[in-house]
Amino acid sequence: MSCNTGLKPALSERLFAAAQEISSLTHIDIGSDHAHLPRYLLETRKVRHMIVVEKHALPFARAKEALKGYNADLRFGDGLHVIKAGEGDSLSITGMGAQTIIKILAEPEKVPPSLVLQANDKPELLRTWALEHSYALKNETMVTGFWPYTILSLEKSKLADPSYDGLEPELALKFGPLLLKTGDPILYETLNKQAKHYGKKLAKPWAQKRLELIQKALRYYD
Ligand SMILES: C[S@@+](CC[C@H](N)C(=O)[O-])C[C@H]1O[C@@H](n2cnc3c(N)ncnc32)[C@H](O)[C@@H]1O
Repeated sequence: MSCNTGLKPALSERLFAAAQEISSLTHIDIGSDHAHLPRYLLETRKVRHMIVVEKHALPFARAKEALKGYNADLRFGDGLHVIKAGEGDSLSITGMGAQTIIKILAEPEKVPPSLVLQANDKPELLRTWALEHSYALKNETMVTGFWPYTILSLEKSKLADPSYDGLEPELALKFGPLLLKTGDPILYETLNKQAKHYGKKLAKPWAQKRLELIQKALRYYD
């Protein structure tokens, strides 16, 4: 499935935020589709060389067209299957479901030390994956768009991730330890919207539990 709308070639706020987290010699982008992100990274010299992976024919053709004349190596295939260990210094996967992203990352020896991940849903699954695979959070950014998106910037680390220090684990995983600690305004807005939404569904026990968690997170803004 492709998410290309055929509309504007410029970077969305979401991809712009992801791009700000990337700076490396060889960067791998998996599931590039229109290749807006790889092209921007090359144009702005944030990366010297790109490896672009696409598993569907139409998006692959789009990426090829967009990257004509750029220092990019395009590979048709499934995620890390077409990557050798050590080929990239950093990697991004954006605009997919968290479970799809985690499935792509399931070849640990090929995952570079620096990652930028943006899931369209459940960023908590990516935070859990990072903790389980010794990646520490370097930065978390939230942007508004079709819905609020969270961009995670991660670095391989032998130490326990200090971002979680002093926070309730369930809360930090769900909403983002760095976003909570910095009092991120987009998270604040999102929490208020969600509190209103779940407040209307209180007859359902799951909604009540959600609302309690949201209210706990909102207390960080007091
Ligand atoms: C929704 S688009 C996201 C495009 C771009 N990354 C963005 O954030 O706007 C997802 C793209 O990832 C590709 N894709 C999904 N799973 C993939 C995999 N395992 N390997 C390579 N490409 C994949 C799809 O073909 C599709 O073009």
